[in-house]
Amino acid sequence: MKPRVLSGIQPTGDLHIGNYLGALKNWVAMQHSYECVFCIVDLHAITVYQQPEELRAKILEIAALFLAAGIDPKVSSMVIQSAVPAHAELSWLLTCVTPVGWLYRMTQFKAKSEAQEAIGDGLLQYPVLMAADILLYQANVVPVGEDQAQHLELTRDIAQRFNSLYGDTFVMPATSLPMVGARVMGLDDPTKKMSKSATGSGHALALLDKPSDLKKKIMRATTDSNPHVDFETMGPGVDNLLSIFQAISGWTSDQMKNHFSGMRYGDLKKQVAEAVVSHLEPLQQSYQRIVSEPGYLAGVLAEGAARVRPIADSTVKLVKQRMGVYTE
Ligand code: TYM
Repeated sequence: MKPRVLSGIQPTGDLHIGNYLGALKNWVAMQHSYECVFCIVDLHAITVYQQPEELRAKILEIAALFLAAGIDPKVSSMVIQSAVPAHAELSWLLTCVTPVGWLYRMTQFKAKSEAQEAIGDGLLQYPVLMAADILLYQANVVPVGEDQAQHLELTRDIAQRFNSLYGDTFVMPATSLPMVGARVMGLDDPTKKMSKSATGSGHALALLDKPSDLKKKIMRATTDSNPHVDFETMGPGVDNLLSIFQAISGWTSDQMKNHFSGMRYGDLKKQVAEAVVSHLEPLQQSYQRIVSEPGYLAGVLAEGAARVRPIADSTVKLVKQRMGVYTE
């Protein structure tokens, strides 16, 4: 049996090149060596208010983008989290073994709750639901960007705590980060992570941005006061542009140095823009084809959910039995 992979993306905001290089692109590369479950985590999205119509549309947009990026629904299961009730059920069971102090320590909770007037309980429970997503499928590997590493450590802590209280139940999932592109920074401010929720037109490269917009954003990206690329002294803006190029091209560090050392920033930006635009072109075309056939997408999602439900249900049953709550 192949080892299992699980990962997920929230259906909020516009999917950007950070989500792609940090997660989606690696999912596509892994899907033939692992048994993969890829989730659109709508229950996570509602931990902060989402306009219902927008959320409904976003779920389908993200699903279409999974396919457009190269997820093959014949080998990988694409699942909307709320279509498999076991996610929420396991989340509650795990909540009961999770010390609340662990949750208050999460940096994403601290950051997200700062922006809220009233902090929803869901925001605090968010990483427990994420642990449930992973442990439900006994996933061996979880490919994510660097910002999710702390949540994955917590997932292992929860699994370990459960196993020591109730006996060996959960597989310990490993974190898989890409070598390059694990933390893509904002183009307007390269000291901040590129984020779906950040406003500002020059911040993120959205996967569905028009080529002219992608070019414009890259040409305007913040750099530093050096006249040209110097790998020893470059600032975070230049480093970020080079990382985007390297993650897309798959070049080695030596190839990067030989090609870009001494290059003027204007030329560097042009080359990065060309690489991004030509890489995203087939994805964007394929996205248009997929959304023109909504029946196909609905079928893929129904099939994905049907395929994983038995696995999810059997884990919940086992966990309930271990904990002593009622099972039929
Ligand atoms: P989300 O929706 O914020 O992001 C989806 C994926 O994109 C990665 N990512 C980045 N990678 C590199 N650079 C960036 N600037 C960048 N921004 C985002 C994220 O690390 C993630 O891999 N909590 C998760 C969703 C989730 C999940 C799961 C992930 C729910 N359950 C189970 C893995 C396993 C999240 O909010 O991702």
